[in-house]
Amino acid sequence: MPGVLLRGGCGPLVLLWALLLPLVSLSHLHQHGRRGPCVTDRPKLLLLSFDGFRWDYIDRVPTPNFNSLMEKGVMVKQVESAYITKTFPNHYSLVTGLYAESHGIVANEMYDPVLNRSFSMETDSIYESQWWEEAVPLWLTVQKAGGRSGAAMWPGSDVKIHGMYPNEFLQYNASVSFETRVKRIVEWFSAPKEEAVDFAVLYWEEPDESGHMLGPQSPLMDVVIAGIDEKLGFLMNELKKAGLYERVNLIVTSDHGMTQLSADKIIELDVYVSRDLYTWVDKSPVVGILPKEGRLDEVYSLLVDANPNMVVYKKEEIPAHFHYQHNVRIMPIILEAKEGWTIMQNRTGPFMLGNHGYDNTLHSMQPLFVAHGPAFRQNYVKTSMSAVDLYPLMCHILSVRPLPNNGSLFNVKDLLAEEPVRSMPSPPPSTPPMVKEYSYAPVWGSFLGVVLVLGFLGVYIRQMTLKQMYPLKHKGWEMSQPLLQEDLQL
Ligand SMILES: *[C@@H]1O[C@H](CO)[C@@H](O)[C@H](O)[C@H]1NC(C)=O
Ligand SMILES: *[C@@H]1O[C@H](CO)[C@@H](O)[C@H](O)[C@H]1NC(C)=O
Ligand SMILES: *[C@@H]1O[C@H](CO)[C@@H](O)[C@H](O)[C@H]1NC(C)=O
Ligand SMILES: *[C@@H]1O[C@H](CO)[C@@H](O)[C@H](O)[C@H]1NC(C)=O
Ligand SMILES: [Zn+2]
Repeated sequence: MPGVLLRGGCGPLVLLWALLLPLVSLSHLHQHGRRGPCVTDRPKLLLLSFDGFRWDYIDRVPTPNFNSLMEKGVMVKQVESAYITKTFPNHYSLVTGLYAESHGIVANEMYDPVLNRSFSMETDSIYESQWWEEAVPLWLTVQKAGGRSGAAMWPGSDVKIHGMYPNEFLQYNASVSFETRVKRIVEWFSAPKEEAVDFAVLYWEEPDESGHMLGPQSPLMDVVIAGIDEKLGFLMNELKKAGLYERVNLIVTSDHGMTQLSADKIIELDVYVSRDLYTWVDKSPVVGILPKEGRLDEVYSLLVDANPNMVVYKKEEIPAHFHYQHNVRIMPIILEAKEGWTIMQNRTGPFMLGNHGYDNTLHSMQPLFVAHGPAFRQNYVKTSMSAVDLYPLMCHILSVRPLPNNGSLFNVKDLLAEEPVRSMPSPPPSTPPMVKEYSYAPVWGSFLGVVLVLGFLGVYIRQMTLKQMYPLKHKGWEMSQPLLQEDLQL
């Protein structure tokens, strides 16, 4: 496993060691690389999700706390969530960089025909590890790299995944207040240096719950949004009180947006197909249909032209851009309601005024994204990104090697405070840019290595003499990072 790379003030010294080790035999220095004054300089990152916070909510009411975060940080106007735009799939995409088909949490309600098990966010089935183990969430990767993680109620964070939990976590309990969650997170970041977490995730159920109940168009949502801004203010203030605000990189985002529904826009499946022919697996607006043995074609032909406000896909016909096909947990037929429409079996049962889950290219399905901290640029607005790009960005900030993923650091590198030495060559569209970056790194690393060894020889001697750190800031560090990670395996 790669070690957590020491950054900040330690960077120059560590780089120097890494470059000089092969030349001069000072291997004892290597063992001290992790300890000492550098530990507290490890990069810190807090990822906060306000469930169902649509990207444009901040334009509805004054949001002074969001504004102050953005003025000193970055904002992305449009974030494309992963399909389907539901809570569990997207929270897992944020911490894995994978589309739902690749991380395996394909819906809030699932059936796995291989396991012959059902998953529902309303039952304890979510605690069965097997559902989560097609991927490795970032909190575990940080731990395997020698760092520490904390989690407050993030979906999946209280589940044992590949035999591990976050170092610090709270058992899911919706009644625990936001303020309590924040206080625990701040404690974990402020712990003595060996116990302090490097990465934490924080989840809050609003404004999703109110959005479902009231509908996003309700004027009452203004009050809810203003309340979220106050919650953010509380967090910022607690971080400031603990001296963490300028040190911790804070990313505030969400899993999806929200759209207005109406009781006039209901599609009743019972009108078209008998319940005896299928099992209803996932709910509106993207309904997973498991036809009874041998009835697939019959169910499909009954539904395919049934209602103009519902698109019906056989699994193999699901459009490629959704990246929602290659998993046994995706049902043989899925029904996608058009925006604002609700699919039910009949009109009995709970009806909501707001929902999400629809086509991830719809603006209403897109969440907010703001970030602030030493890693980020200031007062910078970016037009768009994909939710899966967050994972390589977070790995970069934390200096851990990302696992294979569907995101691209290249797409979001402009959010970062430090530019690379020179611009990266544009990757061909078919090649994942992460791969590109790593394949270029050794070349640049070697080049920089030669230049820096010569340039720093004097500095090195001075270091050894004065036994103090030389706080060099250089724009070249980013490029040599992958090399350094190799060298610093611990
Ligand atoms: C799947 O599990 C159910 C009980 O949950 C059981 O009745 C059924 O026989 C199982 N099917 C198979 C194919 O094992
Ligand atoms: C959930 O949290 C509330 C508020 O802190 C507490 O009263 C309750 O006992 C907790 N429930 C469980 C199951 O821990
Ligand atoms: C609708 O479905 C429920 C079962 O889900 C059933 O109890 C009810 O009678 C149905 N209503 C109508 C009007 O068919
Ligand atoms: C997403 O990433 C995973 C892991 O590298 C890979 O297996 C999968 O093919 C990728 N999906 C797409 C659409 O590229
Ligand atoms: Zn959600």
